[in-house]
Amino acid sequence: MDIQRIDLDPPGDLLTGLHAAFLAALADHPGPGMSLPSYTAMVSRGFPGDVMEAWAVVEDGRVVAGYGLGLPMTDNTHLGVVRSLVVVPERRRRGLGTALVAHAADRARTAGRRMLLTEAPAKGPADGFARATGFTPSLGEARRALDLRAADWSRVERMLADAEPYAAGYRLERWAGTAAPELHADLALLMEGMNDAPHGDDVEGMRWDAGRVEAIEATNAEFMQQTYSMIARRAADGAVAGYTRIYVDRAEPDGWGRQADTVVLDEHRGHRLGLVLKLANLLWFRETEPDVDRIITWNATSNAHMLAINEAMGFELVDEWTEWQREVCRRQAE
Ligand SMILES: CC(C)(COP(=O)(O)OP(=O)(O)OC[C@H]1O[C@@H](n2cnc3c(N)ncnc32)[C@H](O)[C@@H]1OP(=O)(O)O)[C@@H](O)C(=O)NCCC(=O)NCCS
Repeated sequence: MDIQRIDLDPPGDLLTGLHAAFLAALADHPGPGMSLPSYTAMVSRGFPGDVMEAWAVVEDGRVVAGYGLGLPMTDNTHLGVVRSLVVVPERRRRGLGTALVAHAADRARTAGRRMLLTEAPAKGPADGFARATGFTPSLGEARRALDLRAADWSRVERMLADAEPYAAGYRLERWAGTAAPELHADLALLMEGMNDAPHGDDVEGMRWDAGRVEAIEATNAEFMQQTYSMIARRAADGAVAGYTRIYVDRAEPDGWGRQADTVVLDEHRGHRLGLVLKLANLLWFRETEPDVDRIITWNATSNAHMLAINEAMGFELVDEWTEWQREVCRRQAE
């Protein structure tokens, strides 16, 4: 079997083929799809500073399987992050997936990494496949969606009015699109706060600085990901306290908004800021993006605080995912 390297600079037909294989492989899963620009950003950029590569199996002139691999260079330098290893449905159970895992393990090992990390839907072939190829579960995740057409907006407004008095010492700032450069250092601080969210035992927190934020903002703009962001500051001294963001894919409007990180920094917790930020951002989003029908959000299943907020807002379970890890130093399945 020939596993071909995909040219990512610039991305060409093979990456387009891998994107089509990705869509075909996950076609029977609920939730939004992924546009080519958004997929290209995931596979060719990853997080700022990551070294990215992608590989494809071509049969009869069509990409039938492949994967992307991210090699973090700033933190988590022990990892190779597999971003969606897929085999199209009609080519399964012929060992293609196993061969790609062995290939990814080899690539990661060669790059000095000791572990592969990936995530996959909990239901469907991935569970049996991941176990059969030597992965163990490291984190349970779930996606929830809020149907904006069915939401009770007066209830959302009431929830916000009820929560606001607890956050009286804070003010909110919001912006659409790329964050102004003077916000980058504050955003880096906030993103470091995301490291308190549950993550796998062998995954480090990410290190952030203004440059990394600037790179993320540039990638969002380049790949047409519009963002609606809100931060909370302590009114007394302007200290940055909390943050939330919703994405819309402008490249291929599909009626979905994607909730990204929400964080309240440790010393500012206990003022219902998480709820206030999410509700206020949601109301603003609804007003400015009336064509978006639903919002999807990801959480670790163990993230009780965030889940409580999401469920109070009316988010409902879509499906569960598993983060998987696999040592690559010991030769296992390959
Ligand atoms: C998961 C996936 C990559 C497997 O690809 P594949 O080429 O069919 O995998 P292989 O043929 O190498 O299967 C190897 C072993 O995994 C296990 N396995 C694969 N599919 C399975 C299924 N549907 N149910 C249970 N076990 C399964 C079996 O033990 C299999 O060995 P066997 O065929 O001798 O019984 C493919 O089904 C897919 O693309 N799924 C959707 C995308 C996805 O979830 N990707 C994440 C992967 S971590």
